[in-house]
Amino acid sequence: MSDQLPKQPMSTEMYDRIIAVAVKIAGEADVHRLCSTLLSEAQSITGAQGGTLYLVSENEQKQDTALDFVIVRNSILNIDTDKSNLPPLPLFINDGEPNLKNVACHAYHRGERINIEDVYASEGFDFSGTKRFDESTGFNSKSFLTVPLIADTGRVLGVFQLLNATDHGQVVSFDPTHESAIQILANFAAKALETQLASQRRRELLINLSGTSDTKRLTEQILKEAKAITNADGGTIFMLNDKLEIHQLEFSLMVNDPLDIYLGGADVDDIDLPPLPVKHNQVEGKSGLATHCAITGEVVNISDAYDNNEFDFTHVREFDQQHDYYSKSFLAVPLTNHEDEVIGVLQLVNARDFRTNEVIPFAEKAETIVTALATYAAIALHNRILLQDLKALLDAFIQVIAQAIDAKSSHTSNHCQRVPLLMEMIEQAACEDNQTFANFDLSEDEWYEIRVAAWMHDCGKLATPDSVLDKSTKLHLLRDGIHEVQTRIATIRQSLKVEYLESLIETPEEALKIKTDYEANVAELEDDTAFLLTANKGGEFMSEESKERVRKIAKRQWLNSHGELQPLLTSEEVDFLCIERGTLSQGERQIINDHMVVTLDMLESLPFPKKLRRVPEYAGGHHEKMDGSGFPRGLTRGQMSVPARMMAIADIFEALTSQDRPYKDPMKISLALTILKRMREDNHIDPDLFELFVRSRVWEKYAKTTLKPEQLDVTDAEPYLAQA
Ligand SMILES: [Fe+2]
Ligand SMILES: [Fe+2]
Repeated sequence: MSDQLPKQPMSTEMYDRIIAVAVKIAGEADVHRLCSTLLSEAQSITGAQGGTLYLVSENEQKQDTALDFVIVRNSILNIDTDKSNLPPLPLFINDGEPNLKNVACHAYHRGERINIEDVYASEGFDFSGTKRFDESTGFNSKSFLTVPLIADTGRVLGVFQLLNATDHGQVVSFDPTHESAIQILANFAAKALETQLASQRRRELLINLSGTSDTKRLTEQILKEAKAITNADGGTIFMLNDKLEIHQLEFSLMVNDPLDIYLGGADVDDIDLPPLPVKHNQVEGKSGLATHCAITGEVVNISDAYDNNEFDFTHVREFDQQHDYYSKSFLAVPLTNHEDEVIGVLQLVNARDFRTNEVIPFAEKAETIVTALATYAAIALHNRILLQDLKALLDAFIQVIAQAIDAKSSHTSNHCQRVPLLMEMIEQAACEDNQTFANFDLSEDEWYEIRVAAWMHDCGKLATPDSVLDKSTKLHLLRDGIHEVQTRIATIRQSLKVEYLESLIETPEEALKIKTDYEANVAELEDDTAFLLTANKGGEFMSEESKERVRKIAKRQWLNSHGELQPLLTSEEVDFLCIERGTLSQGERQIINDHMVVTLDMLESLPFPKKLRRVPEYAGGHHEKMDGSGFPRGLTRGQMSVPARMMAIADIFEALTSQDRPYKDPMKISLALTILKRMREDNHIDPDLFELFVRSRVWEKYAKTTLKPEQLDVTDAEPYLAQA
């Protein structure tokens, strides 16, 4: 055992020597140098011709744990390697059975040092490797001293082995006096090693923790580390939900190795266990261990839950019964942030003796280490949670803005909410592409940056007057002016009737002609009305002839309430009705286009963090054209990033296929793709992205998830890819 005391008296000289070496070892911060010093000193005390130092290599699976060769020395053969390429010695064989045949592995499992006089006369251990080594090198292995390196926690960190003790050049067996001295050195080395390995692990863990942005992965790392330190069967991480009136401890991760339980974590579904209420003023009954820990912020170490009356272990007992398990020792540590607030609880169950595997109480030393770990973890977690909360707030805020813009206009329906959807599909296609976009890839942050840009791309429309944004007909200013025109037409019609009746009275003999003329006049008036109604909708192109007809109709006269004759249409109404395409006049179109200037102004005035710094560029370019004829900046293809060019296509395709006029059928995919193709030929949209859009069938995916089934009328995309 590690505490095997020297059985033989030791000279003062030897004591002094050991103390000097122990001081040297204790001060060594480098694990490798520490091992090397230990081996050199042990060799020098015993005159050993060689030595090997192994460290235990940790492994997820216990049965894969091994002894790694760290240093191999043989002064006769001039071998001195620091990093041996020899295969590690398996500590377990035959599916988890301890490997007791190999002498080093035996020393590990039993925690005992082994002194062998002559390997060739020894029975019980497998020295075939040593014998093969002798055969191939001509060396004569004889005496062996194998010593485990056992830390204070009882954990065996490694094993070192000395070969062929010598006395005045003769190979002899290892002197029992030396043996004791070596054991003392080994104990010192193990202590120092444990400190170094622990701080090395802590450093690695800190780096890991600070580099992990996912809270679930963080909790996994914390629990894994805490389990490894204490050799515990399992544990649970609870996170405190303090947003409810009665705070709750929610199960975040639950692991138990012997029971093969792994619930929660990054790659697993959320745990379906009811949260534990945290009642700060609990008067009746005992509280559970975790809730007590959350309320008081105290570390609680229980050696046997079945022998404890302080806490309520009902759930634990139920669990044990269900799983045929015995939850004995517990360690509960609060996760406390830098403001000293408990944000969760780490609870470990059943620490095991590193060698015997018996369930033991959690060591006091482990308590300190786990508490330190919990502190790092809590700070890292707290920061992630704060970040997540802020991100969620920002997301919700952005989406509310997008919804507000969409709500401003009844006929652009969900444009701001659908463009992000379409963008995501195009980005995905580009990431998966192995042709033109083979080198295109997006990190998680970049995905998010584009997402924010897509949601915000039309934010400037907040400043566009509703009368223009929602202008559904040419005469629609704040209300549709066509109704006023129709009223005037009604008075004209009334005048025609009065004229007709008066003529009948004056010249009854011409009744037939008067009636025919009257009916022709009414028919013409009705025809003109129908023409104006159609023109007002802006669905068709206004030819010169149509415009002339508007002007002619405008000259018709009606009698206003003052008895004055007025032209049917004002000059402003004539101008509106003569708009060639759509419903917007030049001036109104400019107002709409100004939404881009406002979008850019708004986005550029926001202090986006570094990871979102390209949002204005991505969002602000969706009306630019590849040939530089777009707005607001007249950028060309080369001046735009790929996501900005994607945004232009997403924006156009959404606008084309959305049901933007209640009385019009939504556009079919075939027509939308034809229009996009024409835009590519005119060098308005990016040709490569258009090709990707068509080839990867983003249009189909989008139509299936978002559009009406009758809009999807394309199966073969080839015609749209053909060059003009
Ligand atoms: Fe826009
Ligand atoms: Fe848009």
